[in-house]
Amino acid sequence: MSHSNLTDAPAFQALSTHFAEAKEWQMRSLFSRSPDRFSRFSTEAAGLLLDYSKNRLDEKTMSLLLQLARERSLEQKRAAMFSGEKINTTEDRAVLHTALRLPRTASLVVDGQDVVREVHEVLDHVRAFSERIRSGQWTGCNGQPITDIVNIGIGGSDLGPEMTCRALRPFVHPRLSLHFVSNVDGHDLDAVLAKVRPETTLFIIASKTFTTRETMLNAQSARSWFLRHHGESDLPRHFVAVSTNTEAGRAFGIDPENMFPFWDWVGGRYSVWSAIGLPLALAIGFEAFSEFLAGGHAMDVHFQTAPLEQNLPVILGMVGVWYRNFFGSGSISIAPYHQDLSQFPAYLQQLEMESNGKRVTSEGAPVTAATCPIVWGDVGTNGQHAYFQLLHQGTDLMPVDFIAALKPAHGLEGHHMVLLANCFAQSEAFMRGKTEEEVRSEMQAQQVPEDKIRSLLPHRVFPGNRPSNTILMDKLAPATLGALIALYEHKVFVQGAVWGINCFDQWGVELGKVLAKNIESELAGEVRTDTHDASTNGLIARARIALSE
Ligand code: F6P
Repeated sequence: MSHSNLTDAPAFQALSTHFAEAKEWQMRSLFSRSPDRFSRFSTEAAGLLLDYSKNRLDEKTMSLLLQLARERSLEQKRAAMFSGEKINTTEDRAVLHTALRLPRTASLVVDGQDVVREVHEVLDHVRAFSERIRSGQWTGCNGQPITDIVNIGIGGSDLGPEMTCRALRPFVHPRLSLHFVSNVDGHDLDAVLAKVRPETTLFIIASKTFTTRETMLNAQSARSWFLRHHGESDLPRHFVAVSTNTEAGRAFGIDPENMFPFWDWVGGRYSVWSAIGLPLALAIGFEAFSEFLAGGHAMDVHFQTAPLEQNLPVILGMVGVWYRNFFGSGSISIAPYHQDLSQFPAYLQQLEMESNGKRVTSEGAPVTAATCPIVWGDVGTNGQHAYFQLLHQGTDLMPVDFIAALKPAHGLEGHHMVLLANCFAQSEAFMRGKTEEEVRSEMQAQQVPEDKIRSLLPHRVFPGNRPSNTILMDKLAPATLGALIALYEHKVFVQGAVWGINCFDQWGVELGKVLAKNIESELAGEVRTDTHDASTNGLIARARIALSE
């Protein structure tokens, strides 16, 4: 493993020299010089096509970036993760979300246990349970089938299930409505409880630790709401749990039969493949859930075996490193041109920023180059009418990932063509921009007077040369969604390997959990409230007045 500074790596230095020249390149010229640029800079795997030709790079750039990946021991680190080494060193844990999507026939022995066997035991439980709910064999306390599923969880115990259930909306069982409550803000749970009936609702309490304050409070409130309508003995038909902490689930009153376990080697933001994905399995059925796992596994195999030159996660990750560490781009925008992927940017925010938002290396030394950029975005075409202005003409360089499906899941005429046309037109416009001459001749053709042309010209010029990737799939389906998520998981891993950081801990988030606990007791009037800085003391005092009214 490499322990030295990233900036001392020979390939990093060669890239710095190369950058001095490459930063001047115009993508327009790169394209006009080589009409085969699309075939040279695009690659396909696991049902996904990655077009990275609209980037400020050439073959030399790519070869230096891949050399950097090798110098940072990407291949060794990748092998260490897949084999179950404890690469999450600060928590002394293996990182094995990839084992959650291994086929039943595989075997992976870690600490003397075959994790694949354990994974499939839980999957069998998920299958049996989801079949009972979907068939209506599992009934609520009034003998009627379940119609509403409320997942109570936060972070990785919410974002994955919610994003995937939305993404696969056309596959959802017609009797089932899925609801997701994450925020400790009571408005979240209140709004959902107003929509459902206790007799036909199943609550899933999803928490890796089963201690997260937000989830525990929401779970307790949901339980009290249920008990206002029905008795304790009806609870087991309406409350199940997913957790690594079986004991705490039992203490909450969950029937051990209805506890779905997972393991500490599954990070929260990587847990949708585990029983945390139960809402998805219930929604789309176990067979489709298995296709989702298979799609993730197909990307794992590709990531492990494809040469780096054709390896989608490696390319996506290293192109990101190029912009972050050499162009200094501080953010990346995710633009899914698919309404059902509306939660995908939020999902990636946790995946990327909780994983790679780190300022020290795995060895605890300060990093010598920037790490994770800000990840943000929204669906197209909506974003075009909101923040795309800044992407086209703002002062910062922000790469964009466009994501689209070639075929829609609806039968509405004309819509999909317009959607795809917009997606491709935007990436083309980012790349080409619009020159002064083009703007001038356009306005001249419209017979705009010369003085007006002169005054409008600077506003109507687009610098272009703004980079993007485009990821295309045939259809948004369980397998392609699985491959897409795994693609980004491994992209995060590639970047973490190059930056030399631990992608799998989240100490920054843990801090918030402790701090809020103290202030909570102060707001409740249980302890002194003048122990903070003047601002915090003042805010607490103001809130105490309002809370006691
Ligand atoms: O937000 C911090 C975090 O630890 C995430 O990593 C995790 O997904 C979330 O809290 C929820 O944790 P749990 O599943 O243990 O309730």
